[in-house]
Amino acid sequence: MSLALSDFKTVVQTLHELLDVIDREVAETIDSRDPNNVSATLAPRASAELLDAYKAFTKYSDKLASFAADPSDVGVTLIGGFHETNAIQVASELGVADVLGDEELPLSEIAHRVGANEYRLRQVMRLLVNRSVFRETHYGSDVFANNRLSSVFLSAHEKNLRGIVGHWADDAYKAGVYVVEGVKLASEKKCPFELEHGTTIWDWFKTPESALARDRTNKAMVGAEGFLHGALIYDYDWERHGQEATIVDVGGGVGGAAIELCRRFPKIKIVLQDRPSVIEAAPKFWEENAPECKSRVTFMPHDFFGPQIREKIFFMRFIIHDWVDEDCLRILEPIRDVIPSETEGGRLYIADSVLDEKSERLKYMLDLQMLTFTGAMERTEVEFDNLLKRAGFRILKIHKNRGFCALIEAVAA
Ligand SMILES: C[S@@+](CC[C@H](N)C(=O)[O-])C[C@H]1O[C@@H](n2cnc3c(N)ncnc32)[C@H](O)[C@@H]1O
Repeated sequence: MSLALSDFKTVVQTLHELLDVIDREVAETIDSRDPNNVSATLAPRASAELLDAYKAFTKYSDKLASFAADPSDVGVTLIGGFHETNAIQVASELGVADVLGDEELPLSEIAHRVGANEYRLRQVMRLLVNRSVFRETHYGSDVFANNRLSSVFLSAHEKNLRGIVGHWADDAYKAGVYVVEGVKLASEKKCPFELEHGTTIWDWFKTPESALARDRTNKAMVGAEGFLHGALIYDYDWERHGQEATIVDVGGGVGGAAIELCRRFPKIKIVLQDRPSVIEAAPKFWEENAPECKSRVTFMPHDFFGPQIREKIFFMRFIIHDWVDEDCLRILEPIRDVIPSETEGGRLYIADSVLDEKSERLKYMLDLQMLTFTGAMERTEVEFDNLLKRAGFRILKIHKNRGFCALIEAVAA
């Protein structure tokens, strides 16, 4: 990759713009340790301008690093990224953020309270502070506190990332040992997870030994709403289908997306579908988090490869990216069989990331996450278009928003 002087100027200019936007929008929350300041409410907290400026900045700073820094330095830092994953996993599993709460605590006290070896915990905390997770009062003080980033690991944070830590840093990480073999395999079907466990993730989730992983996967999907910024819900007028529209959330998990829809749109009704073992856990999740919305939800154990119910509006978030095209067709066809025409108001909404040249790093990480767990992938607009055509749908519009997922609106072709 070659960089010209104009690219450097763009980096500097982008940085200036970003700082201006930060100054206007978020400066006052930067050092906050209050979890409520971060995303207790899901109203998207940043403007599109801020998010665009941030994305442009990270893209250019990566580009700059790849040009200006020694490639070996950049390379080793990339290779060593797994140590950062490990450090986050340690802090999350031990509950360091919870122990710190609003206090500044000496390392010895933290280690005592979480039951860890003080010297080893120091190494972990130092790495994390270097990555801006947690704060050390001054370098070498051995006194640590929460900060804005570490607050997403507080269990009191409604959209905390602790489920995602287990799902990624433990389950995917272990299966990651098989990624090289998985990529070499001629058959797309055998993914790294299957090479590790001898079964698909979905069948493994039926076994008793997967109870912990199942639980944290459900929590991960709820935590995902944090990095989606609630944008799927806030940046789209779901009431355009009628204030009391019924939305079928296909493979909706315990309701991480649906709960936000219900909170925002007070009359919308949800049919929440998922596999029996997941639906079983859903009523408790709603009881604990949004009891006022629960009566608007029908909890429906359902296999999405089987026949669908007759409704107008179908929604699926993070489903298509779990499956290769042939399996997606088996999921989409039962919907195609029942969905009314465009003029009768039939709509299929697919919420997934859509890859393009501006896509941020996390989208490509998620792509490999899919490769690892299910052998599937994130898709480009063209790939979605082809897939939906094959399934008998036509894309009406891809609604971009401030969050991570685009919202693809499709109708029966
Ligand atoms: C990545 S999660 C997404 C959950 C939810 N849509 C969300 O965004 O929070 C995928 C979901 O698909 C569900 N799933 C997998 N196989 C299924 C099947 N055959 N029928 C119905 N749901 C299924 C899983 O149980 C899981 O909840």
